[in-house]
Amino acid sequence: MIKYYFKITVIFLLLSNITFAQDLNGESVFKTYCWGCHHETSVAFGPSFESIANKRTVGEIQGHIIAPKSTYKQLGHKRSVMPSFKEKLNQNELDAITSFILKYKSN
Ligand code: HEC
Repeated sequence: MIKYYFKITVIFLLLSNITFAQDLNGESVFKTYCWGCHHETSVAFGPSFESIANKRTVGEIQGHIIAPKSTYKQLGHKRSVMPSFKEKLNQNELDAITSFILKYKSN
């Protein structure tokens, strides 16, 4: 029985750690690369993460972060000002920042 509780605890700790690491990572990507132009819920130089989360899919968000020059028109923007983060972010960081953005979905 004790062994069983121990296993459950270990699994729980592992899982909560993974979630925690992902959140932390998303937030640090945000602060390092996006914060100057995007804020969580208010419009800055670029649209707020809340407005993005409310209308875009994971594919649209990641497509824009990687190749903004090829997606901005489709997303309804007149100008393309945002730089591409293709060289700066690996897939884990891209997934982490995408989950971070989607956390602000409010509708
Ligand atoms: C230099 C300023 C700047 C930086 C830095 C920047 N963005 Fe942007 N972002 C913009 C602007 C301006 C737009 C509007 C369209 C465009 O210019 O491409 C935009 C658009 C977007 C969109 C699409 C918006 C829509 O209509 O759905 C996403 C998603 C996005 N940014 C995510 C990010 C993420 C994630 C980061 C950090 C890794 C980031 N941006 C960094 C300025 C910036």
